Amino acid sequence: MALISGAARGQGAAEARLLVAEGARVVLGDVLDDDGAAVAAELGDDQAVYEHLDVTSETDWEAAVQAAASRFGALHILVSNAGISPRPKPITRTSPDEYRRVIEVNQVAAFLGIRAAAPVIADAGGGSIVLTSSVNGMVGAGGIAGYTSSKFALRGLAKTAALELGRYQIRVNSIHPGPIDTVMVQPESWGGFDMRPALAASMPLGRIGRPEEVAELVCYLASDASAYCTGSEFVIDGGFLAGPFNALGADA
Ligand SMILES: NC(=O)c1ccc[n+]([C@@H]2O[C@H](COP(=O)([O-])OP(=O)(O)OC[C@H]3O[C@@H](n4cnc5c(N)ncnc54)[C@H](O)[C@@H]3O)[C@@H](O)[C@H]2O)c1
Repeated sequence: MALISGAARGQGAAEARLLVAEGARVVLGDVLDDDGAAVAAELGDDQAVYEHLDVTSETDWEAAVQAAASRFGALHILVSNAGISPRPKPITRTSPDEYRRVIEVNQVAAFLGIRAAAPVIADAGGGSIVLTSSVNGMVGAGGIAGYTSSKFALRGLAKTAALELGRYQIRVNSIHPGPIDTVMVQPESWGGFDMRPALAASMPLGRIGRPEEVAELVCYLASDASAYCTGSEFVIDGGFLAGPFNALGADA
């Protein structure tokens, strides 16, 4: 039994689809109610249910966790995946409210999710919590101070939670995707500009990632296959973090 935030589309929806295919029952949480309900309907009533979950709301988290426990009997897996990435701006032109909003949605929300879910997962005998960070939780990037700050914070949160929750057999890890082909990098989020070809060209593997590839990593971390993994960072980035420079050049 799993709860995935930000599951109406993109990586969260791919994670819901794969977890259901692997036999899990999933509560999909998001603020995009029509899209989230459609994904849940596609997966079937017995396997999936959609719950409105604004991850900045403590009461929404409580309701989503209770929905998982009452609908499916228990909760073992939390994937804290919801996130926002506003258009880049220098720090000097970012308002404090704009910065705080990203921190609320990407960082504080993950804290709220762990706070609501961990006792219920502990009652069920343990499980796995996955926090979706980013390669920008490992390296900085100009123009996205709030995003980068929030994604770095998730690493610390995952490690702290792993230390606190290990005694309840709850594992907590962060994942660090590189560029993934979702709305977040698609033209509709960039005023029509398609940044994907340039991103792909800069990647060692020559392409950006697919949400289904990230779902495979989440599925591993959610399952007993990763029973001895906790408090760690799992990078899935097509080589983005391998290094900034190839001395052999493009023709090698
Ligand atoms: N796409 C990338 O290149 C990339 C790379 C690294 C990390 N990530 C991270 O992966 C996660 C998933 O993003 P994605 O790539 O699927 O993009 P996406 O924009 O398609 O999905 C994000 C989801 O989060 C939801 N969301 C936003 N604010 C919310 C809120 N307040 N409450 C509940 N849900 C909310 C959105 O409605 C959406 O369904 C995010 O945390 C993102 O930062 C994305």
